[in-house]
Amino acid sequence: MDTKILLAMVMLLFVVLFVGAKAQSAAPPVSPHDEDWGWCITSAGDKPVCDEMIKILEGLDPEKSHKYSCVVGEGPEDCMKKISAGEAKIGVFDGGNIRKASSKYQLKPVRLEITGTSTDKYYSVGIVKSRNCPRNLGSLRGKRSCHSGYGRSAGWTIPLTFLVNNNIMPVITSGPSSNDIQSLKYFFLKSCAPTNDNTKAICSACKNTTRCTQEDEYYDYHGAFRGLVED
Ligand SMILES: *[C@@H]1O[C@H](CO)[C@@H](O)[C@H](O)[C@H]1NC(C)=O
Repeated sequence: MDTKILLAMVMLLFVVLFVGAKAQSAAPPVSPHDEDWGWCITSAGDKPVCDEMIKILEGLDPEKSHKYSCVVGEGPEDCMKKISAGEAKIGVFDGGNIRKASSKYQLKPVRLEITGTSTDKYYSVGIVKSRNCPRNLGSLRGKRSCHSGYGRSAGWTIPLTFLVNNNIMPVITSGPSSNDIQSLKYFFLKSCAPTNDNTKAICSACKNTTRCTQEDEYYDYHGAFRGLVED
């Protein structure tokens, strides 16, 4: 029987707001309607909430110094692209995207939201079933892993980096997909790391093993936990 391993649940929410780097340059005073402030949202399901927010923002800006709107992206990376290309101005992303947002898309974090703590860090927690408790991290090899999502900070970047840096997970670079995906697939028997990006999603241990998006029952922290329990 597969042992399901749940990697990296987090206890606290950690989101980062990014804008295109251009928005950071010494800003001359903006005249009315000078700038469109499109909020990029990462799924169409967020549109009603975003529309509500736009009304609030407009109410807070009686001078109408910006034109607010919601721009629907196909996922976090698509939103980064849109902001970088000037099609949107601002977006909210998981902390795990900081590096990609800044190095690949030249975005800058402008606000950090920390929920429930006064420090700028939170803990990733990995969970295993007690009856199959591994002797050490190396014995996770060949097991099944559940992640909050592909590219997420606590569910992906931090645990993978830890396993690689401690020479537990070998880095595999030979195949067509990115190194992190190949390395994970080499190390674990099956994994669930959902994402709306079809080319990145790892679905072999998800609820839907052929197509796992943010709609998958095993997506996000609660989903990863569920994936562990529903073995
Ligand atoms: C998995 O997702 C695909 C694409 O959305 C869908 O066609 C298929 O029916 C799903 N399979 C299950 C078992 O839900």
